[in-house]
Amino acid sequence: MNFDFRNWQIHVGTPHPFNAERPRPDNGTARPDPARYYDPAWARQEWEKVFTKTWLLAGVVSDAPESGDFFRYDVGSESFIIVRAEDGSYKAHYNVCPHRGSQLVLQPFGSADEFICPFHSWHFNLDGSNASVTDKETFQPDVLCHGTDLSSVRCEEIAGLIFISMSNDVPPIRDYLGDAADHLALYDIGSMNVVQHKRSDWAANWKGGVDAFYEIYHLHSVHPQTQCLMDDRTQIDLFPNGISRQFVPFAQPSPRYADQQTVNAGIKIMLADAGIDPETYQGTAQETRAAVQQAKRARSAQYDLGYEKFSDTQLSDSTIYGIFPNVQIGCHPEAVFIHRFVPHARDPEQFTYETIILFKHENIPGYGAPAWMGLAPGTDTTGKTRPEIVHTPLGEPPHLGEVLDQDSELLPYVQMGARSRGFRGPLWSEQEARLRHFHVELDRYINDNKEWGK
Ligand code: FES
Ligand SMILES: [Fe+2]
Repeated sequence: MNFDFRNWQIHVGTPHPFNAERPRPDNGTARPDPARYYDPAWARQEWEKVFTKTWLLAGVVSDAPESGDFFRYDVGSESFIIVRAEDGSYKAHYNVCPHRGSQLVLQPFGSADEFICPFHSWHFNLDGSNASVTDKETFQPDVLCHGTDLSSVRCEEIAGLIFISMSNDVPPIRDYLGDAADHLALYDIGSMNVVQHKRSDWAANWKGGVDAFYEIYHLHSVHPQTQCLMDDRTQIDLFPNGISRQFVPFAQPSPRYADQQTVNAGIKIMLADAGIDPETYQGTAQETRAAVQQAKRARSAQYDLGYEKFSDTQLSDSTIYGIFPNVQIGCHPEAVFIHRFVPHARDPEQFTYETIILFKHENIPGYGAPAWMGLAPGTDTTGKTRPEIVHTPLGEPPHLGEVLDQDSELLPYVQMGARSRGFRGPLWSEQEARLRHFHVELDRYINDNKEWGK
């Protein structure tokens, strides 16, 4: 084979330990059966063999900073309560009362000394143990002997992120994430606050969402407006356990874009993000990425932001991690953008696309979240107020910003095509290597041959 996709080289940042050449796994060239995108039997297997057998990102530490603070995490047919216990550790319980199965916590967030069931008011301690059974004397002891505590699952915090697992077989989250745990720790997500949280229901399989956000091959076609400020030659790295990374150069036009010189409107936004006045900037569009990097280094030196830990690429570009199975995290020193692709409880042709923006507040003139994240004007970025979760039902535009709304319009068409008799499975390019890496990992779980660290 004389084809080497790596000749389409990409990464043009400062050398960084994270950019070390890694052995690339051989994920083959197979075309997977598209049944995975629509077949209810496939979805049931996926739930039993993947979602209940791996780590799932449940939330972020800033959503439960104090003892007794809790939030809900709903995925597929399950709901969990994640709570910060008195000892500072995080606990996760199924959001279900052992009496008659009512959900206990009905709101997305809160703070409590104990949980009280809304049906017959049994009480539970934060650690899930039963605190009281209402009219206990009316139960035969042998009935209560079956157990009156909440059912709990594993819960671990790492890099400001809280993961849960329904499985006792999965290795600790540190081992599961591998090097990505160290990379994510650089961003200090634990000191960031949620400044926007949106959910929208899309008429597509959750993996259609993963696929669409794991590549930027479609940018020139679906999001042509990004071509003036994003280079679509990206670096892709594939890690064990289905984890992947992509560096997407920002503040530099795509080679598909005709005018490489003029400081266009998109480039001006990138300059402003870095605190450079676009009106007095003397460079070309091609030179902007380096100018952004230098400006952020200078800002860090002036305000002691500690950016020495970041490569130039990490300052200017989007550094994106795919965490198997259903999360992608776009990282910038100022803010991170979490995408979560939440499978529907019953319908494999629906999922909830959830986005959470976390921002590291600094009192620095001109400093803010990257403009591409599209924070609404007037958003409180100080961390003093936790925004409500905005949920958009199926069929309504999600109002996620122009680019993400374009994805939401397209994905139902991809879903319809996936179940056509005429479609026999995706043909992935090496620009879509993360998709193949993800699906090959998925197949390991489905085929019962998952080995940790592979
Ligand atoms: S269902 Fe919870 S107390 Fe009855
Ligand atoms: Fe897109």
